[in-house]
Amino acid sequence: MTHPLRFGIWAAVHGSRAAHHDPDEPDDASWDRNRALVLEAEALGFDAVLVAQHTANPYDDERDQLEAWTACAALAALTRRIEIIAAIKPGLYHPVVLAKMALQIEHIARGRFALNLVNAWNRAEFERAGLPFPAHDDRYAYGAEWIGLVDRLMRGERVTQTGPHFQVTDYQLRPAGSFRPRPTIYLGGESEPARALAAEQADVWFINGQPLDDVAALIADVAGRPAANAPLRYGLSAFVIARETDAAAKDEHARLLALADRDAGLRADTRARTDAASVMFAKTDAAASRHVGTNGGTAAGLVGSYDTVAARIRAFHAAGIELFMLQFQPFEAEMRRFAEQVLPRVR
Ligand SMILES: Cc1cc2nc3c(=O)[nH]c(=O)nc-3n(C[C@H](O)[C@H](O)[C@H](O)COP(=O)(O)O)c2cc1C
Repeated sequence: MTHPLRFGIWAAVHGSRAAHHDPDEPDDASWDRNRALVLEAEALGFDAVLVAQHTANPYDDERDQLEAWTACAALAALTRRIEIIAAIKPGLYHPVVLAKMALQIEHIARGRFALNLVNAWNRAEFERAGLPFPAHDDRYAYGAEWIGLVDRLMRGERVTQTGPHFQVTDYQLRPAGSFRPRPTIYLGGESEPARALAAEQADVWFINGQPLDDVAALIADVAGRPAANAPLRYGLSAFVIARETDAAAKDEHARLLALADRDAGLRADTRARTDAASVMFAKTDAAASRHVGTNGGTAAGLVGSYDTVAARIRAFHAAGIELFMLQFQPFEAEMRRFAEQVLPRVR
C-alpha cells in the first residue's frame, strides 16, 4: 500500500545540521528562531516537524539547546495544520508522566501530535545526571516495556501492569481519545532490536538517510515481520541540496563538506560521549568525510538539480517511504527553495 507523500522539517533544536561554523548560518537554537521556522514551514506546505530531544547540546554543552516537549506544546498552540512530532528517550521520563504530557499536547494540537521513540546514544546526557544508561539492547528492552505502557495510557485504558521495570496500578488518564484513539507513535533506530520494536509497537518507522537500495532492503526486512499497528509506514531522514543543475548542487555539497571539516573537534568530543553500539552512529561516523547533515544527511542522495531531487524522492516513495524528514543549510533559505522548486515537481 502506498501512502501519499508527506514532507517534514527537523526543527533547529541545536543549531545547524551540516556545519557549525557557517558564516551564512550561525548556530541558533533559540525558541524565537524555531517558532518562526515552523510557522513558515507550515505556511509553505510542509506536513510535519520533528523536534529532536537532547537535554544539553549533544555536540558542545556551551551551545544552546531547545527543549523538545515544552517547545512542542507551544508549537501546538501556534500552528493549525502541521503534525508535531516530539522525540522521547524512555530513560528520561516515567511512562505515566510522559503519556499525560503527550495527551495534553494532543489536545492543544487538536489531534496533530506524535512522539518519536529514540533509544539514546549520548551517554553523558544520562550519566552526568546520575541516571542509569544500560547497554544498547537493554535500553531497547526497557523502551519496549515503556512504550507499551505509554500506548495503553494514551488510549485512555485503565492500566495495571507489572514488568521488570515498571509497576503501574489502576492508572487511567483523562482526557483521552477526543480526536483519534491515540497520538501517533514513530520510532527512530536501525539496529535489530530497533526494527523488532518498530514492527511491534510503532505506526511509522524512521530510517536514517542512505541510498535507495539500502533503504529498500531495510523496508523489506521490517515489512516481513508481523506488525501490531499494520500497515506500518516508513519515514526517511535526509539533507537536501537542490540547485538549477547537478553541478551547482555538487559544488554546494563540497562547500558544506569543507565547512564541516572545521567541526572535527566537535565530532571527536561527540564520539567520546557516544555509545559505540549505536548502529546509526557507526554508519554516520564512517561516512562523515563524504556526507553532511545528521541521521544520514546527504547519504540519501537528495543532492542535485531540482529534477534530480524530485526523481529521487519519487523513487524512494515507490520503495515505500511516505514521509521525508528534511534538513537544509542555511535552513530557512533552502527550505523556501525546496518549497518553490521541488514540492511542485513531486506533488
Ligand atoms: C529519525 C531519527 C530521529 C532521532 N532523533 C533523536 C533524538 O531526538 N535524540 C537522540 O538522542 N537520538 C535520536 N535519534 C537516534 C536514536 O536515539 C538511536 O540511538 C540511534 O538511532 C541508534 O540506535 P540504533 O543502534 O538502533 O540504530 C534519532 C534517530 C532517528 C533515525
